[in-house]
Amino acid sequence: MSDTATNPFLEGNLAPVSEETTAFDLRVTGTLPSELSGRYLRNGPNPMAGTDPSTYHWFTGAGMVNGIRLDAGRASWYRSRWVRSHDVSAALGEPPPPSDWPKGHGSFAANTNVIGFGGKTFAIVEAGFPPIELNDELDTVRISNLGGSLPQSFSAHPKLDPLTGELHVMTYWWGWGNQIQYLVVGVDGRVRRTVDIPLPGGPMVHDMALTETYVLVFDLPCVFDLDYASTGASLPYRWNDTYEARIGLLPRDGGADDITWCSIDPCYIFHPLNAYDDGDTVVLDAIRHPRMFSHQLLGPDEGKPSLDRWVLKADGTSTHTVLAGEPQEFPRIDERLLGRRHRYGYTAGVGNTFKQDALRKIDCETGDVVRRGDSDRYGWGEPVFIPRTADAAEDDGWLMALRLDTDTNLSEFVVLDARGIDDDPVAVVHLPVRIPNGFHGNWVGDQS
Ligand SMILES: [Fe+2]
Repeated sequence: MSDTATNPFLEGNLAPVSEETTAFDLRVTGTLPSELSGRYLRNGPNPMAGTDPSTYHWFTGAGMVNGIRLDAGRASWYRSRWVRSHDVSAALGEPPPPSDWPKGHGSFAANTNVIGFGGKTFAIVEAGFPPIELNDELDTVRISNLGGSLPQSFSAHPKLDPLTGELHVMTYWWGWGNQIQYLVVGVDGRVRRTVDIPLPGGPMVHDMALTETYVLVFDLPCVFDLDYASTGASLPYRWNDTYEARIGLLPRDGGADDITWCSIDPCYIFHPLNAYDDGDTVVLDAIRHPRMFSHQLLGPDEGKPSLDRWVLKADGTSTHTVLAGEPQEFPRIDERLLGRRHRYGYTAGVGNTFKQDALRKIDCETGDVVRRGDSDRYGWGEPVFIPRTADAAEDDGWLMALRLDTDTNLSEFVVLDARGIDDDPVAVVHLPVRIPNGFHGNWVGDQS
């Protein structure tokens, strides 16, 4: 793609691949744990031919889901599939995908995350677009409205409450004006609770956090910009120096009027690691970006993102410390602890334009950081933790991630022991293609 040289988010391992791939019985180095049967899935932008590099924003490329199927010690298949929106299907010469929505309702090839929920697989994204259901082999089934229960928009980062099995979702859409919406999706896959939250502006709300008593609302100064939208910008959100940065504590069963707003110093947060109640305060560990979409408008690249801790107080004040200052993103925990006190976090190191390098494990109690040291050769994606057994201790399990081998220009799916991330991998599954750096993924076990 020689015509992409003007856009850093189309270069290196952000350059898209040109076709879908299916491969069976993959070569494995090491031994895949026999306990692991299911699919590792990961979504990310893979813009189609004809994308204009002068205006392309990394967040707007058509989604491509990559999947690796494990069967008790075997790597049975690898598949990559574009998520079908109307535009993607048309570009591929296919009929439009089935849709639960009225004709004309915006569809976008959801490109940010992929989850298993209620026995179904969904590619998901934010900013006004619905989830797209996939089958087990990653083909698009439908543009979904969750059985008629979804008002409009979903999110790339629903939070699965490990105690109830429900999904908590913070969603936004420019068409709502200065308002966002919080949803709870029941275990039956239907939205059972909706809370509209008025705000001073229209912030980009990429993620949320959950504790046992609160839902955390990130009202931060990267906001919808009508003037920028009028230029035809594909993602019309920009940094605003005059917009107050604050985090809201919404009681789980409360309404918008019950929110306690805590001021914080200006920054942007895409991703929390986790949050939990601690007496009368709430602790939030999250990746802090100094700014977002202030100067670089084609993707996130505005200073070093660090892992930081905020303590949010009932009087609306907060304190802030740095837990791990090295540039990193894609924080994940042992998600059995989501909303409760955690000790360990796992992240991917990022350089300029989110160039992925090291893998990190952070002990949030001691501040110790383990950095996997072979990053000159390998670029690591988001790590995902899988417990060894349902009742294993925190950290007793595996870490899964995709990595690019820059020697071969091919990607690998790697399983590490989470207690020794700098040891030799437990297993490496060799893939027949390069997978561009993307966003988020999950292990969808056969039992889940
Ligand atoms: Fe994200």
